[in-house]
Amino acid sequence: MGKFIWLCQIRSVLFVLFFLSVVDCSLSLSSSSINPTPSCLPEDTSALLQFKNTMSIDDSAFFSYCYPKTNSWNESTNCCSWEGVTCEKATGQVISLDLSCSKLVGSLSPNTNLVRLRGLKRLDLSLNNFSASSIPSGLNQLVSLTHLNLSGSYLSGSVPSDISSLSKLISLDLSRNERLEFDRHSFDMLTRNLSKLENLLLRSVDMSDVAPTSFMNLTSLKCLSLGLCGLQGDFPSEIFQLGYLEYVDLSVNSLTGYLPKSNWSSPLKFFDLSSNYFRGSIPSSLGNLTKITHLGFYSNKLEGEIPDVFGNLNKLTTLDFSFCNFSGQLPPSMFNLTQLTSLHLSSNRLQGPLPIHVTGFQNLKDFSLTDNLLTGGVPSWPFTLPSLEYLQLSNNSLTGPFNQIQKPNSIQVVDLADNDIHGEIPSSFFGLSKLTRLDLSSNNLSGVIR
Ligand SMILES: *[C@@H]1O[C@H](CO)[C@@H](O)[C@H](O)[C@H]1NC(C)=O
Ligand SMILES: *[C@@H]1O[C@H](CO)[C@@H](O)[C@H](O)[C@H]1NC(C)=O
Ligand SMILES: *[C@@H]1O[C@H](CO)[C@@H](O)[C@H](O)[C@H]1NC(C)=O
Ligand SMILES: *[C@@H]1O[C@H](CO)[C@@H](O)[C@H](O)[C@H]1NC(C)=O
Ligand SMILES: *[C@@H]1O[C@H](CO)[C@@H](O)[C@H](O)[C@H]1NC(C)=O
Ligand SMILES: *[C@@H]1O[C@H](CO)[C@@H](O)[C@H](O)[C@H]1NC(C)=O
Ligand SMILES: *[C@@H]1O[C@H](CO)[C@@H](O)[C@H](O)[C@H]1NC(C)=O
Ligand SMILES: *[C@@H]1O[C@H](CO)[C@@H](O)[C@H](O)[C@H]1NC(C)=O
Ligand SMILES: *[C@@H]1O[C@H](CO)[C@@H](O)[C@H](O)[C@H]1NC(C)=O
Ligand SMILES: *[C@@H]1O[C@H](CO)[C@@H](O)[C@H](O)[C@H]1NC(C)=O
Ligand SMILES: *[C@@H]1O[C@H](CO)[C@@H](O)[C@H](O)[C@H]1NC(C)=O
Repeated sequence: MGKFIWLCQIRSVLFVLFFLSVVDCSLSLSSSSINPTPSCLPEDTSALLQFKNTMSIDDSAFFSYCYPKTNSWNESTNCCSWEGVTCEKATGQVISLDLSCSKLVGSLSPNTNLVRLRGLKRLDLSLNNFSASSIPSGLNQLVSLTHLNLSGSYLSGSVPSDISSLSKLISLDLSRNERLEFDRHSFDMLTRNLSKLENLLLRSVDMSDVAPTSFMNLTSLKCLSLGLCGLQGDFPSEIFQLGYLEYVDLSVNSLTGYLPKSNWSSPLKFFDLSSNYFRGSIPSSLGNLTKITHLGFYSNKLEGEIPDVFGNLNKLTTLDFSFCNFSGQLPPSMFNLTQLTSLHLSSNRLQGPLPIHVTGFQNLKDFSLTDNLLTGGVPSWPFTLPSLEYLQLSNNSLTGPFNQIQKPNSIQVVDLADNDIHGEIPSSFFGLSKLTRLDLSSNNLSGVIR
C-alpha cells in the first residue's frame, strides 16, 4: 500500500509537470533584432565579454536543443547584433539578455559583470550550469529589471535579500534549483517591496522557513508556482481570492488550509493543491470558475459531497479528486463535461449508481473510480465513449449483469475487479479490439470466454 501511494505521488508530480508545460505562465524573452541595429555602448560590450570569459561551454551535459549563444559574440562586431542580446533603439543600451539553454558552465561571482548592464530589463540565464554557486549579490544594481529567470541552472544557497529591492520586478523564476533556499526574512522583505510581481515561480526551491501568510502581500500575482517547496503551515485562503490569479500550483507540500467559500479569483485557469493537508469541503462557489481547465485535489483531507456545480465549467480538461474523503453521490453535471480528458476520483467514499446515459465525456481518455462504494449495474456507455482508453472501477459494489455494447470503442484497459458483477460476459465485449488488459477477478461471473 505504501509503495502504491508513493507511485501515485510520482504520478501526480508528473501530471503536474506535464500541465506546467501546457499552461503558459511564461512571458518569453524576445531577442528579435531591431532594425536598424543601434550601436552598442562600449561599457556594455566589455561587461558582456568579461562575463563570457568567466564561463566555459560544456557540450555534453545539456538538452540536445541547447546551444552556445555566446559563440557568436565577437568583440569586433556590434554587441547589439549578438545572439541573445537586445539593445534599446534610441540609446543602444542593452535592455535584454537571453542566455537560456546556452551550455554555460561556471560560477556566478558576487557583483558579476552582468550587474554593470545598468539598462537591463530582462535577464534569462535559465538552463545552464552555474556549478552550485549562489545567486550573486549585487543584482540590486539592476534597478530597471522587470524579468529575471534563473530556473534550472544549478544554483544553491540562500537567495540574497537584496533581490527585494528590485521593485520593478514583474516576473521571478528561480524554479528547479533544488539546493536553493529562501529564508523567512528575505522572503518577507521581497513580498513587501515587489508589489508589481505577477509571476512567481519557485518550484523545488526550499521554502520550508517561509510563512505562507507572506504571499498575501503579492496582490498583483497571476502565476504562483510553488510545487515541491517544503512549504508548511496554514495557507491563507485569501490568496486564492487575489483578483488577477490565473495559475496556482501548491502540489507536494505540507500545507493545511481551506478552500474559500466565495470570491475566488475569477481568472483562475489552473488550480492544483495535490498532496497537502487541505481540509473541509468543496464550496458551491467553485462553480464560478468558468475559465478553469485543471483542478487537482489529489491526496488531501477534503471531505463532504462534491457539489453539483460543473454546469459552467466546460473548459475543464483534467480533474483529480482521488485519495480524499469525498462521500455521497457523483454530481450529475460532471458527466456533461465535454473537454475532460482525465477524471480521477479513486479512493474516496463515493456511492450510488453511475448514470445510465451520459451526454459529455467525448474526449475522456482516463476514468478512474477505484476504491469507492459505488453500487448499481455496470453501465455500457464507457465502452462506447470515442476516446476512452483506461476504465478503472475496481473495488466497488457494482452488480451485474453486463449489457451488450452497441459500438465498441478503443478502450485498452478495463479493471472491474472486486465488485459483485454476476451473469455472463456479453459477446459484444469480445469485440473490444484494442483491449490489452482486462481484470474481472473477484466477481461472480459465469459463462463461456469466447
Ligand atoms: C524560465 O525559463 C524556463 C526555461 O528556459 C522556461 O521554461 C520558463 O517558462 C521561463 N519562465 C518564465 C516565467 O518565463
Ligand atoms: C570576429 O570577426 C572578425 C571580422 O568579421 C573575424 O575576422 C574573426 O574571425 C571573428 N572572430 C571570431 C572568434 O569569430
Ligand atoms: C555542473 O558543473 C560542475 C562543474 O563545474 C560539474 O561538476 C557538474 O557535474 C555539472 N552538473 C551537471 C548536471 O552537468
Ligand atoms: C524596497 O525597494 C526600494 C527601491 O525601490 C529600496 O530602496 C528598499 O531598500 C527596498 N526595501 C527592501 C526591504 O528591500
Ligand atoms: C504586507 O506589507 C506591509 C508593509 O508594506 C506589512 O506591514 C504587512 O505586515 C505585510 N503583510 C503580510 C501579510 O505580510
Ligand atoms: C466578496 O466580495 C464582495 C464584493 O467585492 C465583498 O463585498 C465581500 O465582502 C467579499 N466576501 C468575502 C468573504 O471576502
Ligand atoms: C458564485 O457562487 C455563489 C455560490 O454558488 C453564487 O451565489 C454567486 O452568485 C456566484 N457569483 C458569480 C459572480 O457567479
Ligand atoms: C472521512 O469522513 C468521515 C465523516 O464523513 C469521518 O468519519 C472519517 O473519519 C473521515 N476519514 C478520514 C480518513 O479522514
Ligand atoms: C447536461 O446537458 C444536457 C444537454 O445540454 C442538459 O439538458 C442537462 O440539463 C445537463 N445536465 C446537467 C446535470 O447539467
Ligand atoms: C477498497 O475500497 C475501500 C474504500 O471504499 C478501501 O477502504 C479498501 O482498502 C479497498 N480495498 C483494497 C483491497 O484496496
Ligand atoms: C453467484 O451467483 C450465483 C448464481 O449465478 C448465486 O447462486 C451465488 O449465490 C452467487 N454467489 C455470490 C457470492 O454472490
